[in-house]
Amino acid sequence: MSDDERCEEYLFKIVIIGDSAVGKSNLLTRYARNEFNPNSKATIGVEFQTQSMLIDNKEVKAQIWDTAGQERFRAVTSAYYRGAVGALVVYDITRTSTFENVGRWLDELNMRSANRVLLLIERFNFPVNEKSHRNDDDAHSDTTVAKMLIGNKCDLESIRAVSIEEGKSLAESQGLFFMETSALDSTNVSTAFEMVIRDIY
Ligand code: GTP
Ligand code: MG
Repeated sequence: MSDDERCEEYLFKIVIIGDSAVGKSNLLTRYARNEFNPNSKATIGVEFQTQSMLIDNKEVKAQIWDTAGQERFRAVTSAYYRGAVGALVVYDITRTSTFENVGRWLDELNMRSANRVLLLIERFNFPVNEKSHRNDDDAHSDTTVAKMLIGNKCDLESIRAVSIEEGKSLAESQGLFFMETSALDSTNVSTAFEMVIRDIY
């Protein structure tokens, strides 16, 4: 964590992950700017938006990161996940393959968090057996990342391919919150982001 981040008492980093075209970028623009783009292009690299909300009369800022779902556009290294305390793992309820890939995204999220600890050990040249006492800098280890599974495009009920029950049961088995959303008609978009932010806070 940099000194700048330390000064911002309530600045949380949240990452959005999931396959290409599940609606990650539109969920973010719907939440941050109340905008939806029916012809949005695939994200290249990484973008982020900062959004504030009031909790207990305190201003809490969420810096929400969005990246490419497409492998060839992904510039993702551990830096994307570094310092994240919340994650939205998104699939598209009309495409089963995006639901089947949720496990891979969770693995990547967990692996990157683990790498982060290893990098810190390397950087400070900690003896590995002392890491539990010496990694205070890594204030948010993997176990404290608030994760939510999101089934997006719930406006497309007529071509649904993944049931609500399937979504719920995957979330339960992985210890994630679960919600279905629609970036198109706004269903549950703020609620989903705010649940993650409140959980972190
Ligand atoms: P990558 O950047 O390639 O990873 O994709 P993405 O996950 O950011 O998807 P994006 O937000 O660009 O949306 C992909 C397509 O799905 C676009 O045509 C959107 O308009 C559409 N879309 C996104 N959210 C919804 C939704 O809730 N309902 C419907 N019907 N369409 C949506
Ligand atoms: Mg995108």
